[in-house]
Amino acid sequence: MRDELFNTGKDLVGFTFDAKVAAVFDDMVRRSVPGYQSMIEMIGLMVKTYGQNHTNYYDLGTSTGTSAIALGVNNPYKNNRIIAVDNSINMAQKCQENLTNRVKNFKVICADIEDVAIDNASVVVLNLTLQFIQPEQRQVLITKIYQGLNKGGVLIVSEKIHFEDEKKQNNITKLHLDFKRANGYSELEIANKRQAIENILITDNEQTHFERFKIAGFHRSFCHFQCLNFASFLAIKEA
Ligand SMILES: C[S@@+](CC[C@H](N)C(=O)[O-])C[C@H]1O[C@@H](n2cnc3c(N)ncnc32)[C@H](O)[C@@H]1O
Repeated sequence: MRDELFNTGKDLVGFTFDAKVAAVFDDMVRRSVPGYQSMIEMIGLMVKTYGQNHTNYYDLGTSTGTSAIALGVNNPYKNNRIIAVDNSINMAQKCQENLTNRVKNFKVICADIEDVAIDNASVVVLNLTLQFIQPEQRQVLITKIYQGLNKGGVLIVSEKIHFEDEKKQNNITKLHLDFKRANGYSELEIANKRQAIENILITDNEQTHFERFKIAGFHRSFCHFQCLNFASFLAIKEA
């Protein structure tokens, strides 16, 4: 369904992942996040390269399950369980519908990812989710994931990022707005969404991500994909 949620003169504050957002989410994310399809393809590649037999794959903040499906359909290993987590009941229900008959051996959990145990994991995905966690809680979450990963396992994190260089920040922000315009969003929709999501989606810069991975214990991390102000990072636990 086409995203027209913000095409309104009403004052919109406090974006939530409710039933209305869940219904249009797939259209919203593709028209708002440059490079989204490539992020998903990279998750498929990562599971082929870093998955392990007899382990769990986690998709944290799964929304409609797109990353979980990429894990499932690209998985060449044996005896894996895909655990997809979201604290929005509407998203969890959509994910359950979308994974059924497409992915083998999965479980959808409606819960806060900060409360979910990570265990026997070889691949953990946080695709556009960490940015919605309170900044002071992010280190705790990344450290918990590190501890739940097996040796050689990986964490994939995709996020909207910001840049310390003001000119670069302004140039890339302009390009992102033009990307949204090119995908059919009006000035009103862009302004309303920005107002609604302010203080809810809180970005980090690239350096903050790398420092967090290091503090958690990851021995190597790097950016494997970037399109404008959206980046995907791979953090590897030593084998
Ligand atoms: C931008 S969407 C993620 C998109 C999805 N991972 C994908 O690849 O298409 C963010 C999701 O994270 C979920 N979320 C945010 N905070 C959460 C939390 N603390 N626990 C669980 N889910 C959370 C939201 O409900 C929402 O569905």
